[in-house]
Amino acid sequence: MIVVCFIILACSVTSVHCDTTLRWRKNAEHRSDSWRKYDTDQFHIEFKDQGAFTISFGKDVWFSSGPMFVRKDGTSYKSGDNLKFVTSKTAFGQDELGRYVMNLYRFSYDQNLVDFSARQYTAPQKPAIIFSQYFHNDSSHVAASSVNDIVSGFPTFDLGGSCMNLGFLSFGGDMLGDTDKKFGRWGKGSAKINTGIVGGPVVIFNNKSQPITVFISPFSEFMAGSVAHDPVEDTVGWGIMGGVDHIPAGTSYETMFYYGMDGINKTIGQWGKLMRDYYRKNEDYRRADLTVNYLGYWTDQGAYYYYLTEPNKTYEQTVLDIKKEADSQKIPYRYFQYDSWFYPKGPKGGVKTWEPTAEAFPNGFMYVYNQTGWPAAAHNRWWSSTTTYAVQNGGQYQFILDPPKAIPTEEVFWEFLFKDAKKWGLILYEQDWLYIEFNQTATLTNLTLGRTWMNQMGRAAANNGLTIQYCMANPRHALQSLENPAVTQARVSDDYAPGNEQWRIGISSIFADALGLAPYKDTFWTTQTETGNKYGKDEPYPALEAVVATLSTGPVGPSDKIASTNVTLLMRCCNQDGLILKPSRPAVAIDKQILRTVFDPTQNSTGEIWSTYTIVSGYPFGIVFVADQENGVSLSRSDIGFTFQPMVAFSTMIDRNENIEVLNFTETTPLVLSKCSKSEFCLYYTSPVFSVGTSSVLIYGEEDKWVPMSPQRVLRIATTNDDITLTVKGSFEETVKFAFIEWSSGSSLRSVTCTFGPSGQAVIRYSSSQCEMQ
Ligand SMILES: *[C@@H]1O[C@H](CO)[C@@H](O)[C@H](O)[C@H]1NC(C)=O
Ligand SMILES: *[C@@H]1O[C@H](CO)[C@@H](O)[C@H](O)[C@H]1NC(C)=O
Ligand SMILES: *[C@@H]1O[C@H](CO)[C@@H](O)[C@H](O)[C@H]1NC(C)=O
Ligand SMILES: *[C@@H]1O[C@H](CO)[C@@H](O)[C@H](O)[C@H]1NC(C)=O
Ligand SMILES: *[C@@H]1O[C@H](CO)[C@@H](O)[C@H](O)[C@H]1NC(C)=O
Ligand SMILES: *[C@@H]1O[C@H](CO)[C@@H](O)[C@H](O)[C@H]1NC(C)=O
Ligand SMILES: *[C@@H]1O[C@H](CO)[C@@H](O)[C@H](O)[C@H]1NC(C)=O
Ligand SMILES: *[C@@H]1O[C@H](CO)[C@@H](O)[C@H](O)[C@H]1NC(C)=O
Ligand SMILES: *[C@@H]1O[C@H](CO)[C@@H](O)[C@H](O)[C@H]1NC(C)=O
Ligand SMILES: *[C@@H]1O[C@H](CO)[C@@H](O)[C@H](O)[C@H]1NC(C)=O
Repeated sequence: MIVVCFIILACSVTSVHCDTTLRWRKNAEHRSDSWRKYDTDQFHIEFKDQGAFTISFGKDVWFSSGPMFVRKDGTSYKSGDNLKFVTSKTAFGQDELGRYVMNLYRFSYDQNLVDFSARQYTAPQKPAIIFSQYFHNDSSHVAASSVNDIVSGFPTFDLGGSCMNLGFLSFGGDMLGDTDKKFGRWGKGSAKINTGIVGGPVVIFNNKSQPITVFISPFSEFMAGSVAHDPVEDTVGWGIMGGVDHIPAGTSYETMFYYGMDGINKTIGQWGKLMRDYYRKNEDYRRADLTVNYLGYWTDQGAYYYYLTEPNKTYEQTVLDIKKEADSQKIPYRYFQYDSWFYPKGPKGGVKTWEPTAEAFPNGFMYVYNQTGWPAAAHNRWWSSTTTYAVQNGGQYQFILDPPKAIPTEEVFWEFLFKDAKKWGLILYEQDWLYIEFNQTATLTNLTLGRTWMNQMGRAAANNGLTIQYCMANPRHALQSLENPAVTQARVSDDYAPGNEQWRIGISSIFADALGLAPYKDTFWTTQTETGNKYGKDEPYPALEAVVATLSTGPVGPSDKIASTNVTLLMRCCNQDGLILKPSRPAVAIDKQILRTVFDPTQNSTGEIWSTYTIVSGYPFGIVFVADQENGVSLSRSDIGFTFQPMVAFSTMIDRNENIEVLNFTETTPLVLSKCSKSEFCLYYTSPVFSVGTSSVLIYGEEDKWVPMSPQRVLRIATTNDDITLTVKGSFEETVKFAFIEWSSGSSLRSVTCTFGPSGQAVIRYSSSQCEMQ
């Protein structure tokens, strides 16, 4: 009894501080008697009559519902008002996620019926609730007054409904929701999340070192689902995007509320795993994508040869010269990216015909493909309403024309386009400008057209063995990739320009990785000064650019002026064949970086603190990357998300030959870094401690690579009482140097050199310091 009183008292005290609404007070009263049962962090959703609910963790109410609503003929029908409650039921069922219990609430408005329901999965248990809206009737004239609003709202959350100290991360804008991503405090009047067409998943968390995290996002109809803020009610709700004016009978739209106890990054990863399983997102395409696996040369915005050729030469000659230079410098580019400069455009810049102009390629792509042997990654933007492919313009395929843009509506069009392009070596189709192809055509006001368009493109690519990169994708396009296994990668930050800040991809990479997409940093220069460049700029931090690209696990695509490449620096990414030596997962920002942005903004820290790791034969090799962190920072093993042990850390490769500093990295002895800048970023590696005889040995791995231990190089680690053997692979005549650290004897290095024979495989033995060909 005393406990209960104490809690009630605590609540009423808190409520004074957070300007509690009447609605919240009711919820609190309603909840108080059951608080005793939930005194840990346990998740709990409690429904009241007519579908109102609260969501709590332990005794803390995080969310309470606002009114549900639907629109029709200019009227908004709201629960508690003109949206009339009809009936409710609890039902049991089963779908691909498992068995569930469903609370369903039926409402009527203007002789139409709508069901709002929530499914909780019991067997197997899932830390998720799926909120559903089901429209019984064919309904016209439902659009909201703004495309950025929503036609229907359930769930909606009352921002005044929690007294908790919560923060948010809201993905939004393009580049997979990176460009407008926002951080802030979740609560009354203060949640400035991204809404409408550019909006996306909202991540809400508390201020613990391992925060409870909630991830809310559309679960179906990704292209048509939006989140909106109602400034009058101060609620945030999910539903069908505001421009849709017609909802066919039988339409349903669903929102997933996912939660996790393992922190922000891990909860997003767990959400992504569930989504990928549910939508059968097949990662084989990503693994097999040549452009994800090998070095390529890029010519997009920021590149030296972006809308620029060598003086008095065509693009064709320029490409051939890049090839010649690469051969002479032994730079193993394996494909070439052709950007928007290659195709003819209609008025206002849309694509007229997706073929190279005679001006750029007098002998055509086939000729260049033949001369270079380079397969192509090719860019595409929005279609012009004058496109020669459209029936309206004398072409053969159905398009909806929305001058100056157009959207194709037939899969056979994509089949034709891709089959044709494969002849000149297309392997990666880069669909850029996704956001304006969506928000300036009929897709903006049609419930299904956006999904139809994206899936036709995706299926045709898969049928033709092509992969797709999404560029300038809003979060809705990002989610739509779940239905398209051919989409293997996505740009995760704004365009590169020498010296700009778009290398900060640690947060958007969390979202990309959750969706099974390889994050692409974009192109970069490997040399500071490239004379005659069109940007009039230098790249002060080529090494930063190169390491970020390599740790991303996405494409590594430099774009230097001919004869300006820093080959030594570039080749830290790759083996002699251009195979990228990467970690097992993309490097991502640690929770601590996000938490301090939200909860301690006065620190003004712009520091990026990321981690990743490689697993070989079950042994973990960690990488900690910190840049632009001017103040000292202390990182415990759990801060950087490493659960494996035992291990030690050692410092950056940059000066490792002179002075390798080995740190005993335990849970109680954190990694303390004093200053990590952009020119001298910090790069720490960890290794398990191997016992060999009486010594403790650490595996450093391959020297002169950003990722010394990568699954692309090291196939196996075997240990006995007195030896460690590494099975490694490489290309014919490639020489590699591997290092071990003898920890017990003053941290000395033992290096072993291997030159691969025709088999491309060798065994490195620690005990004898020998390399044997296999
Ligand atoms: C809406 O659908 C319900 C259920 O099918 C039906 O009973 C009702 O008559 C429909 N309303 C209209 C206006 O057609
Ligand atoms: C982020 O989550 C992924 C799982 O989704 C995990 O593999 C990785 O270690 C995590 N990284 C950090 C820094 O927590
Ligand atoms: C390019 O051509 C123009 C006109 O023929 C000539 O004046 C110029 O010197 C040429 N530039 C180079 C770099 O060859
Ligand atoms: C280029 O064309 C020639 C002659 O048709 C052919 O022998 C050669 O194999 C082609 N090379 C490539 C890389 O396709
Ligand atoms: C489309 O998106 C772009 C970029 O976010 C924005 O500038 C433009 O206003 C949007 N147009 C519409 C019709 O929403
Ligand atoms: C919406 O697009 C679909 C194709 O996905 C089409 O069949 C339907 O007619 C369109 N609806 C409207 C209202 O234009
Ligand atoms: C090339 O990069 C390496 C490694 O970062 C650096 O030591 C060297 O100075 C660079 N060379 C040039 C010419 O910039
Ligand atoms: C968040 O937690 C940190 C670390 O415990 C603390 O220093 C900070 O004051 C907290 N901020 C807020 C707003 O709760
Ligand atoms: C952060 O910036 C503000 C405004 O420039 C300044 O007043 C404050 O001292 C800074 N805080 C820290 C920790 O540097
Ligand atoms: C490293 O730390 C572990 C655990 O605290 C301890 O057992 C071990 O002796 C330490 N090793 C060295 C070389 O300091």
